[in-house]
Amino acid sequence: MNKFIGIVGTISTESTNKRLLTFMKQHFADQATIDLLDISGLPMFNKPANKQVPKRIGEMAAKIEAADGVIISTPEYDHSVPAVLMNALAWLSYGIHPFVNKPVMITGASFGSLGSSRAQGHLRIILDSPELRARIMPSSEFLLGNSLSTFNEDGSLKDAEKVAKLDGLFADFQTFVALTKQLNHADELNKQEAKDFSWDKLD
Ligand SMILES: Cc1cc2nc3c(=O)[nH]c(=O)nc-3n(C[C@H](O)[C@H](O)[C@H](O)COP(=O)(O)O)c2cc1C
Repeated sequence: MNKFIGIVGTISTESTNKRLLTFMKQHFADQATIDLLDISGLPMFNKPANKQVPKRIGEMAAKIEAADGVIISTPEYDHSVPAVLMNALAWLSYGIHPFVNKPVMITGASFGSLGSSRAQGHLRIILDSPELRARIMPSSEFLLGNSLSTFNEDGSLKDAEKVAKLDGLFADFQTFVALTKQLNHADELNKQEAKDFSWDKLD
């Protein structure tokens, strides 16, 4: 059974993205484990000169490294991803590289009808950056619009079509994770390049 890490792209306690990942954790419990990684309370990224990340970031990175994949559910703030998610990703790519070659599935929920489509597009670009280099599942979007009215009281999704879409995408993600294991010819080079990469080089 695959072991996944789930990251909610907000620290709002009432988050509907958190509700979505919590639903997925329960709904897919017989197929995979999804452990939610808490990104609340992280310090603002401040580019420490010695590249020493806080202990908690190191622990988060170790959990991501050990996982078969990561599922990120992001809200959309001002047409992009929330600052807390960017902050966590900046820490998780500063001298450490837990996302390199890691399969990632993106989902998102928003109060409006668009379901975080722009934020998801931005997140793909971010996760493709030289020190993240994740393997993002292609041609897939799970957009949960009108997210305030889309859950039943027990946390399940009201719309059967949405559940069917999520079932399909999750099954695809499991296949994608298996396929990714075969996309291993540049794995070590990817890791080395991420390690050697620096935005601070002046030449
Ligand atoms: C500062 C701010 C900016 C927002 N910008 C957008 C936006 O650009 N597009 C959108 O669909 N919703 C936007 N929203 C509404 C969010 O979809 C909604 O507040 C919520 O964050 C959805 O995710 P959550 O329930 O997990 O918190 C914005 C909300 C806030 C607080």
